[in-house]
Amino acid sequence: MSGCPFWENKYQFNFKKLSLEDEEGDKSQEGLNKASKGGLIYGDYLQLDKILNAQELQSEKKGNKIHDEHLFIVTHQAYELWFKQILWELDSVRVIFQNGHVRDERNMLKVVTRMNRITMILKLLVEQFSVLETMTALDFFDFRDYLSPASGFQSLQFRLLENKIGVPQSLRVPYNRRHYRDNFKGKENELLLKSEQEPTLLQLVEAWLERTPGLEPEGFNFWGKFEVNVLKGLEEEFAMVQAKQDLEEKEDQLAELQKQKEVLISLFDEKRHEHLLSKGERRLSYKAMKGALMIYFYREEPRFQVPFQILTSLMDIDVLMTKWRYNHVCMVHRMIGSKAGTGGSSGYQYLRSTVSDRYKVFVDLFNLSTYLVPRHWIPRMNPTVHKFLYTAEYCDSSYFSSDDSD
Ligand code: HEM
Repeated sequence: MSGCPFWENKYQFNFKKLSLEDEEGDKSQEGLNKASKGGLIYGDYLQLDKILNAQELQSEKKGNKIHDEHLFIVTHQAYELWFKQILWELDSVRVIFQNGHVRDERNMLKVVTRMNRITMILKLLVEQFSVLETMTALDFFDFRDYLSPASGFQSLQFRLLENKIGVPQSLRVPYNRRHYRDNFKGKENELLLKSEQEPTLLQLVEAWLERTPGLEPEGFNFWGKFEVNVLKGLEEEFAMVQAKQDLEEKEDQLAELQKQKEVLISLFDEKRHEHLLSKGERRLSYKAMKGALMIYFYREEPRFQVPFQILTSLMDIDVLMTKWRYNHVCMVHRMIGSKAGTGGSSGYQYLRSTVSDRYKVFVDLFNLSTYLVPRHWIPRMNPTVHKFLYTAEYCDSSYFSSDDSD
């Protein structure tokens, strides 16, 4: 039949057995044709008439139909649909945090699941540029002029996403020396302004971290104990190096240790933190940062496992948004070189400046790794704290601190 000996010998007989000739035994044909009885239809439910008729090629309208413009439009539309889904998930997570529902730990699973969904979508979006990259720069050049002055810069959903996650307005790269919102009019402008004024994911997470059980000075007092342990640990390390015989080795190691000490000691300098916060180099309050570090250290305790997953997802979101910006700018470079954008920016140069830490919202969580210390420096829990953190069920956290009781 096919000429392939593998096929002949191994599968020919089975194929005959599965063929529709033997209809009596063909289970695949069993069932009711419900669609013929009326009711909701696939295409109507999904409003495909709208979606599938929304690809209007500018090149065709101008009498010079360019094949690849179809791909260009569909790609952008697919991105916008996924942005919509991300915003849907993000808004629901923000509501859970905002209404205090996050204090009931049973809601935490919902938060983790939805954040994880956001990261999965972002992974897809980072990869999706490669489909558009099958278009060559010359093919793009054929229809690019028809698009001006439309630009991805005018994507309302992308800006809403940045604002709702918590990209600080003061750190945005100016666009042609103008505020990004000036490019949006009427209702879109209002929506953006509203998104700037609402609590961002960053602010909500910050408030949640500030309530981390175990931070209370009158309770477990994690921070106080941690500072004592760090000072003691450093002292021991200095003593060990001092005892070395080899002078050269000793000097090198002491210099290294001194640097390490300065970094670790700076962690307990609240004024320095406030200063960095005012410059936009830190984003979380001092108390929230302490909470995050506590979750890092005690992540194996059942009560901290889900919070740790949340912190991981927040970093994933930042990383994936950065990868999105990076893949986008690489594609732009390939398509238009150093030409100005259709939206009027310097194009590649402008976009390149957005691939930086200023657009990373949870930058503090990444920096926490600078302050990780040997396990035996981490304060040991007393039995009460340990029991509390070991219980994964919902429990009023007033058990731990008096200002947490609602
Ligand atoms: C051939 C493909 C593409 C080219 C040449 C291109 C080019 C550009 C340029 C030059 C800018 C800077 C603004 C301007 O002056 O116009 C920009 C911004 C933007 N583009 Fe694209 N783009 C492409 C594909 C896409 C796709 C598929 C998306 C998906 C939604 C997208 C979304 C955006 C967004 C959100 C911005 C604003 C970024 C920011 O300001 O940080 N672009 N694009």
